[in-house]
Amino acid sequence: MLEVQKQLWHYLGRFLCISRANMSVDYSVRGSVAVLEVNNPPVNALGHSVRHGLKSGVEQAARDNKVKSIVIIGKGQTFPAGADIREFGKASKDPWLVEVGHTIEASLKPVVAAIHGTCLGGGLEIALFSHFRIAVPSSRVGFPEVALGLLPGAGGTQRLSRLTGLQVAMEMIYSGRHVASKKAKEYGIIDEIVTGDLMTAALKYAESVQGRTLNERRLGHKAVPNTDSVEKYTSAAMAQVKKKYKGFEAPVACVQAVRASAELPYLEGMERERELFNHLKASGQAWAQQYAFFAERAVSRWEMPRGSYKTAKPLPVRSTAVVGAGTMGSGIAVCLLSAGLPVYLLEQNDKFLQSGVKMIENIMAGSVKLGKVSMETAKKAATLLKPTLNYNDLKDVDLVIEAVYEDLALKREVFSGLDKVCKPSVILCTNTSTIDIDRISTATSRPDRVVGTHFFAPAYHMRLLENIYGTKTSPEAVATVMKLGKTINKVAVLVKSCEGFLANRMNGPFNTEATFLVEEGASPQEVDQINEDFGMPIGPFKVRDLSGTDISWRINREVAKALGTTITKETRFLGGNRYCGLNDDFFDKGRYGRKTGKGWYLYEKVGGKIPTVDAESEEIINNYRQRRQISKRKITPQEILERQFYSCINEGFRILEEGICNTPEEIDISWIYGFSYPKYRGGPMFYASQIGLKRIYERICHYHETCPYSIHWVPSRLLKKLAENDVPFSQWSNHVAKSKSKM
Ligand code: 3HC
Repeated sequence: MLEVQKQLWHYLGRFLCISRANMSVDYSVRGSVAVLEVNNPPVNALGHSVRHGLKSGVEQAARDNKVKSIVIIGKGQTFPAGADIREFGKASKDPWLVEVGHTIEASLKPVVAAIHGTCLGGGLEIALFSHFRIAVPSSRVGFPEVALGLLPGAGGTQRLSRLTGLQVAMEMIYSGRHVASKKAKEYGIIDEIVTGDLMTAALKYAESVQGRTLNERRLGHKAVPNTDSVEKYTSAAMAQVKKKYKGFEAPVACVQAVRASAELPYLEGMERERELFNHLKASGQAWAQQYAFFAERAVSRWEMPRGSYKTAKPLPVRSTAVVGAGTMGSGIAVCLLSAGLPVYLLEQNDKFLQSGVKMIENIMAGSVKLGKVSMETAKKAATLLKPTLNYNDLKDVDLVIEAVYEDLALKREVFSGLDKVCKPSVILCTNTSTIDIDRISTATSRPDRVVGTHFFAPAYHMRLLENIYGTKTSPEAVATVMKLGKTINKVAVLVKSCEGFLANRMNGPFNTEATFLVEEGASPQEVDQINEDFGMPIGPFKVRDLSGTDISWRINREVAKALGTTITKETRFLGGNRYCGLNDDFFDKGRYGRKTGKGWYLYEKVGGKIPTVDAESEEIINNYRQRRQISKRKITPQEILERQFYSCINEGFRILEEGICNTPEEIDISWIYGFSYPKYRGGPMFYASQIGLKRIYERICHYHETCPYSIHWVPSRLLKKLAENDVPFSQWSNHVAKSKSKM
């Protein structure tokens, strides 16, 4: 069969003047131009066969007297979007990208990179080795390596600055941002923007540059402009890196590498780049970030007992409604509006409705100011928003998201109202953060259309969309909300309904342990600092001051009510579980958090953002310990870390064990995008795999013994099994499936 294929190619190639340097690069000669068409779907990544194909293609063109210039172009949706990340960690095969690049640059025949789609990473490096670059208006260029814990490792850090200057090169590389072709032309990266058919334009351009002297087009021969300002640009870039990417190693190395382009001759700079690249490549951060890259894509391949992404088709969503114009409802409306979807915003009275509209306008204005949303999008959003007090207006919408208070009776009332007016095909979503979907869906005559869409605050900013299916939810409804996630630029993770779902359920022990640690002797500042040093954006007590101690106070009363009991100053156990009433003492003193200007911390004003430690807070904690006769002890940073993070990892394993989700990737992505868990640690489950499950299991057993009466320390059976059998991370999911089938 292979032989037949080869022969076919041979004859076809002779007939059409096409040959294949290999299966990933098509070589053809059109008039006097050799065309190297990269054909490695979906993103034309520069895997070994592409690198080989490009190098041998340029060499073949050099030998062909008919050929006077060369075009490199991508087949399908894009110019190469970078090196093949799947090859990282495997033994590298020649030719490596720099070798390919230098072959292109040394070519005596002009090489034109013809760009469409996303020309990223190694793809942009190939373009920078080419002598000329043209692009269609919709294309984007950039060096996103930093998001993978790396830097551009095939000359990008040395060559971009030679075109754009140091300031732009540093910023583009440490931020990893994509630049639209128009801007790229302003920066000097693109020589010409072309319209119409790219191949036709590329051939024409390649003919026009035949016979040109190429030396001044070879970036390796060019000097970096403004090298006398290297110190100034480096310190400005480092200041930004420290502010925006705290804890990440790669952005720092990106700046160092670009700096080297100004301070060292080209080839020495290339060596410095390689050194820094290899250092990052071997680091734990790069592993974790690359894992997160693939995990983010893997979570879109969802599965539930009655269907999966393979079988279920999403319904079209052309119009939407949000019920409830409070903080969450308004934030959700902003997400829908920003994606160009019309939104009916429904409230029970005009005062609440107008306040919601104002909130939406303010969020939009803020986003425009920060450059996150264009003025055009904001103007369009204003026309798409339809505030209403009338349920009947919702009769034709495709999808409704309920975002009223977390009160079951109220939510059931809303769903029953929607059931009466909405069309049969509507998808009814609830933004509940805790309530079982079945308890809400039974208020309708169509529980199969009801699904949870849990947004994280602030909804317009946090990227996680936790989608939840109940026992009756149809795969079609799930497919629709998973697709909605993509439409509104969220990362959607599917979970089965249970109390707290995935993210908040794991957050429970994490937060509870934080309070126990303070009860036993740590200070809130110590706990927060250790969390922030670990990479969390803010510590758990600062988070509580954001939402308010009154919220935790209320939740605890609801829990007690459900258990048929009440909480008093003496309560030490709730439902057989250890209880700490410290939060109640802060609440009793009116210290609700930022909203009252004081909570666990003191703020400069009501609604203030700068926390300071004050005597009253310390006094509340000391009095609490005295009342409970707790003698304060010194708690090590290690214990703080272990008790918070290991208890939540244990809960993660239980979530897997119970089939609430299917893979550790779903947990990790939920934490990265729901709670801003540091991406360079990959997520709590990946982190656990790095520490080693044996160690994690031992410590969980230790805390189970030393911190009794906390159900979250009962070791997960799945964790025990994986630890005892030393199962590698890549195989955890297989064991999850087996353990579920036994349950
Ligand atoms: N290597 C291997 N696979 C890749 C890849 C890459 N560089 N980029 C994307 N893919 C895969 C994805 O994993 C996904 O596979 P799946 O369907 O099996 O899940 C598939 O291609 C499609 O990707 P997306 O779902 O992300 O498609 P989108 O259309 O949404 O986005 C994209 C396309 C903007 C190109 C996006 O995939 C992306 O940002 N890719 C990463 C680009 C990147 O980081 N490039 C630098 C690589 S490192 C490098 O070049 C080092 C060099 O300097 C030496």
